[in-house]
Amino acid sequence: MCALNFHFLLVFSTFSSVFSDEDYYQVRACCAYSGEQSKDIEYSILTSFNKHIMMQYNSTRGNWTGFTAFSIYETQFWNADPYDRLERIFEKKLLCEDNVKSIESLGNLTTAPTVSIKLLRQPDGGHPALLLCSAYDFYPKQIRMTWSRNKQEVTSGVMYSDLLADGDLYYQIHSYLEYTPTFGETISCTVEHASLSEPKVTVWDNSLLADEVIQIIVGLCFLMLGSVIVTSGFIYYRKRRAAYSAVCQGGTLIPVEHISSPGVAYSPASANTITIDTNRP
Ligand SMILES: *[C@@H]1O[C@H](CO)[C@@H](O)[C@H](O)[C@H]1NC(C)=O
Ligand SMILES: *[C@@H]1O[C@H](CO)[C@@H](O)[C@H](O)[C@H]1NC(C)=O
Ligand SMILES: *[C@@H]1O[C@H](CO)[C@@H](O)[C@H](O)[C@H]1NC(C)=O
Repeated sequence: MCALNFHFLLVFSTFSSVFSDEDYYQVRACCAYSGEQSKDIEYSILTSFNKHIMMQYNSTRGNWTGFTAFSIYETQFWNADPYDRLERIFEKKLLCEDNVKSIESLGNLTTAPTVSIKLLRQPDGGHPALLLCSAYDFYPKQIRMTWSRNKQEVTSGVMYSDLLADGDLYYQIHSYLEYTPTFGETISCTVEHASLSEPKVTVWDNSLLADEVIQIIVGLCFLMLGSVIVTSGFIYYRKRRAAYSAVCQGGTLIPVEHISSPGVAYSPASANTITIDTNRP
C-alpha cells in the first residue's frame, strides 16, 4: 500500500445478547494498518454494553483501559495477567499480521463498473424525456460519469445521485438526463474509472423514440399505469447484508466478505466467543 494513501482498518465485530433480549454486549477487534507496506499495525479491542463503551485494549499502549467503575477494576487484573498479554499478542498476529497480504491486495484492487442506461420517462408533449445511467459494482469509489449528445458533453438537465455503498466494498452511482429527443441524435453515458484503460461509453438505443407512434402510445399508457411503482423504484439500490469482518477506509465501515484467509475462532478475554468467518460466500 506504499503507493496508496489508504489507512485501512480491519474490523471484527460481534453482537451477542446477555441477560435479556434488550441487553447487548459487543466486542469489536480492529487492525489498523499504516506506514510503508502497512508495517505499523495497531490492534485494538473495544467492548461495549448496550452501546456504552466499557473497556479498550490498545496494542500500542500494550494494556487495557477501563471506562466504567466496574471495568477499571476489572482491567487491573487483566493488565497484571501475563497470559492475557500473550493472548493479545497471539490475536494480533492471527487477525492483523496474517491478514496483511489480503489488506494490501485490497488496496490494489480495482473493479470495473457495469453501466446501463434506462428510459425513466417518455417525452410527452411539453415534458422532456428522462434517462437514467447507472454504474454498479465498482471499486474504488472515485468515478466520473458524464452525458454526451452527438459526442458533445451535456451539462444542463443533468443530476447525480449520491455515491452509494453497496455494503460489500463496492459502490454504485446514478445520473439522470432530462432532454428533448430529436431525430437521428446519439445520446451516450461515459464513465471514467481507475479500472478502465479508456472511458467506457454506453450509447442509448433511442430506436424506440424514432419508431411508430402506436408503440409510443402503448408505452405511455403502460407508463401511466405503472407510474406509482416507477416513482418509488427509480433506482434499483442493491444493498447487501453486513458481514462479521469489515474494512474501514477513511472512517466508513465497508463489510468485506471475500478476504481470502481461513475463518478463525477468536476468544476475547470475556466469556463470549466470536467466530470470525472471513470466507463467507
Ligand atoms: C492507541 O494508543 C495510541 C498511543 O496512546 C494512540 O495514538 C492511538 O490512537 C490509540 N488507538 C486507539 C484505537 O484508540
Ligand atoms: C497503559 O500504558 C500507558 C503507556 O504505555 C500508561 O501511560 C497507562 O497508564 C497504562 N494504563 C493502565 C491502566 O495501566
Ligand atoms: C500492490 O501494488 C504494489 C505496487 O504496485 C505492489 O508492490 C504489491 O506487490 C501489490 N500487492 C499485492 C498483494 O498485489
